[in-house]
Amino acid sequence: MADAKKLYIKTYGCQMNVYDSERMAEALEGDGYEQTQDMGEADMILLNTCHIREKAAEKVYSDLGRLKPLHDKKPDLKIGVAGCVAQAEGPEIMRRQPMVDLVVGPQTYHRLPEMMKEVDAGRSALDTDFPEEDKFDHLPKRVLPARNPSAFLTVQEGCDKFCAFCVVPYTRGAEVSRPATRILSEAQALVERGVREITLLGQNVNAYHGHERGLAGLIWDLAEIDDLKRIRFTTSHPNDMDDALIHAHGTCEKLMPYLHLPVQSGSDRILKAMNRKHTANQYRDIIARIRDARPDLMFSGDFIVGFPGETDEDFEATMQLVRDVHYGQAYSFKYSARPGTPAAEKEDVPADVATDRLHRLQALLTEQQYQTQADMVGRQVNVLFEKRGRQDGQLIGKSEYLHAVHAEASAELIGTVQPVEITKNMTNSLTGQLVSN
Ligand code: SAH
Ligand code: SF4
Ligand code: F3S
Repeated sequence: MADAKKLYIKTYGCQMNVYDSERMAEALEGDGYEQTQDMGEADMILLNTCHIREKAAEKVYSDLGRLKPLHDKKPDLKIGVAGCVAQAEGPEIMRRQPMVDLVVGPQTYHRLPEMMKEVDAGRSALDTDFPEEDKFDHLPKRVLPARNPSAFLTVQEGCDKFCAFCVVPYTRGAEVSRPATRILSEAQALVERGVREITLLGQNVNAYHGHERGLAGLIWDLAEIDDLKRIRFTTSHPNDMDDALIHAHGTCEKLMPYLHLPVQSGSDRILKAMNRKHTANQYRDIIARIRDARPDLMFSGDFIVGFPGETDEDFEATMQLVRDVHYGQAYSFKYSARPGTPAAEKEDVPADVATDRLHRLQALLTEQQYQTQADMVGRQVNVLFEKRGRQDGQLIGKSEYLHAVHAEASAELIGTVQPVEITKNMTNSLTGQLVSN
């Protein structure tokens, strides 16, 4: 296409947005847009946004502000805002930044080509419905060769859990599962395009009910696809870790031994105030059952410090839970009051107290992560090579435990799983040597 228009997408937030950005790019391809990595040459810039914490949402407005000079120089440049800020703030975005041409929510981006017609005719377009139709039925088939042997596949969207701090039930709507047959055919198409690892995505992926045997049933069906070597899923809620799923971790070879299982707090009082509907000991018990099924499984988690009413004692309970579980990796955040959520009505913990707690928790989590990586040295892992490394002759891939691993290997091995002996612990990755077989 000689005169293809250029589309630049910036993605904020979670993996579901990464998946959505790919699908939006595909939807716009039919409209004559091809993706560029260079914002300067773009005819359209799309920000796919996140509303989870105040900083994430405000970043969108500061980024829009920074686009202003580019837009002034190039008045034909189209600017769109998608994702969770679009859903939550819709018209407010256009009011604060009138240069924005288009605002589209996470459930309506299959309508992008129609919306672009409006925009091309010089009008602005806004669509933040929760429509009856399923956007996945209206998106183009995925045909391009995969850029990466590891791909995301959204199987479930939305959330009915209503944790007291969280905007997701409002920005993404109620829980909806895609039918298993559709997911299996999308997975098959991905594998034909060269994908070897699929990470099933959902805000509450283990509440998936599009298969009669739930997420475990879907995983077992996916495992039947020969050339699909690895299956992962994220993000899970502790209360939805059912027996079949726990069992699959011990018996399904393609299901990787890594699980992101957020708990948020180790204090029962705070868990109750957060509306998490489980106690710290129930979480410990679920972890123990999963470790029984798969002893080497590595856990990751999410934590919030400084939730309204959190005392030193509550925080200590979180530190204790972290010591008990021992995470391979984890994310921790300072509580951020979000408009419209029940917790936003409550009084905040003083900022310096929350900051101090965050530092202490992060120090502990970093130490655990370092320890976990150091323990890998001398061990043999299996690496799915994804791409060339920065150094000549080096490839980068992921171990079954999701550690990034560098090793000298020929580029033909991209897209294959190889045994690698870990020789060194770098801060954010591991180095290893191919084990010749
Ligand atoms: N559905 C997922 C995660 C959703 S958001 C789950 O339930 O685990 C990702 C993480 O952001 C959450 O796990 C939580 O730790 C954090 N988070 C969500 N809302 C927040 C808020 N208001 N302030 C600080 N962190 C928040
Ligand atoms: Fe948010 Fe809780 Fe739903 Fe996760 S389970 S998306 S934290 S409301
Ligand atoms: Fe953010 Fe929306 Fe994901 S709020 S974390 S982009 S679901």
